[in-house]
Amino acid sequence: MTGARERVLSGMRPSGKVHLGNYLGALDNWVKLQDAYECYYFVANWHALTDDTDTTTVPGDTVEMVADWLGAGLDPHRSTLFIQSQVPEHAELHLLFSMVTPVGWLERVPTYRERIEQQGIASPSYGLLGYPLLQAADILMYKPRWVPVGADQVPHVELTREVARRFNNAFTPVFPEPDAKLTEIPKVPGTDGRKMSKSYGNAIYLSDPPDVIIRKVKPMVTDPARKRRSDPGNPDVCPVFDLHKIFTPAAEREACATGCRTAGIGCLDCKDVLLRHLVPRLDGIRERRQKFAERPDVIVDVLQEGARRARAVAQATMEEVRGAVNLTP
Ligand code: TRP
Ligand code: SF4
Repeated sequence: MTGARERVLSGMRPSGKVHLGNYLGALDNWVKLQDAYECYYFVANWHALTDDTDTTTVPGDTVEMVADWLGAGLDPHRSTLFIQSQVPEHAELHLLFSMVTPVGWLERVPTYRERIEQQGIASPSYGLLGYPLLQAADILMYKPRWVPVGADQVPHVELTREVARRFNNAFTPVFPEPDAKLTEIPKVPGTDGRKMSKSYGNAIYLSDPPDVIIRKVKPMVTDPARKRRSDPGNPDVCPVFDLHKIFTPAAEREACATGCRTAGIGCLDCKDVLLRHLVPRLDGIRERRQKFAERPDVIVDVLQEGARRARAVAQATMEEVRGAVNLTP
């Protein structure tokens, strides 16, 4: 007999096709967690509304993203995969949390401050301010032990713990405090050497076929000091080498580093070695994700079945919550 597995919950905004940065930063870890934990993973589509109220691309982006989830190995038999808006209990819990949360807590959240400063948002919406509180509801609804996230999300998990405490004190104890499970994120540069990002147009996608990956990697930025084949280079400042660190076995990678420093190999030789390891690593994922992308009806079924399972948990939590809040005779 195996004891009950600890529960894990995480979410991703529906940003469409998953690139290597998203994969190595989150999805790959989600897949591995399935072996040891009871996992809940959801598409944070209400959160997407804080970026843009034009939802034209959201349904299609959801299908593409979940095709990548399934292609990468998330298994709907082992994990519960669902769409946030199909579990409307999240909204009710968010409302009740809003009654115990000082506005000052939300105004101090770093992601909120960055958003309004960097994008020069003069009149931020109530929803944008409340984003981390909706996230607290997403999380606490499932009473998970762990929330796997990147470092940028840790303040949101901290806020979640504070909200759990406030609720438990104001009413009766319902919510245990979860912990962030920090994902070790390797440096994943895009083809121009900057951080890989959809908005920079420098991304390699899980859905890219080999010829597209080759076309993106061949002209990739390298050590800028290495202008000619005869110039020695420095792998420590080369984005191609950052990818070698992720995909190329140590012995071959070291041979590339030495070849680079002594001008024994050219950058195209070096990129060929990378491609020999990168391309096969993505073959299986791409073939699987493509089959799912061609069957959006299957994806919709998976998400509906996931929402059914998630709602059973959410409804049980809300029964407790309504009892604790004690509003109706
Ligand atoms: N805020 C997260 C992000 O931007 C997405 C998210 C929403 C989330 N709700 C969550 C992550 C709950 C973990 C748990 O990436
Ligand atoms: Fe980068 Fe490789 Fe060229 Fe060196 S040889 S600069 S590591 S691509």
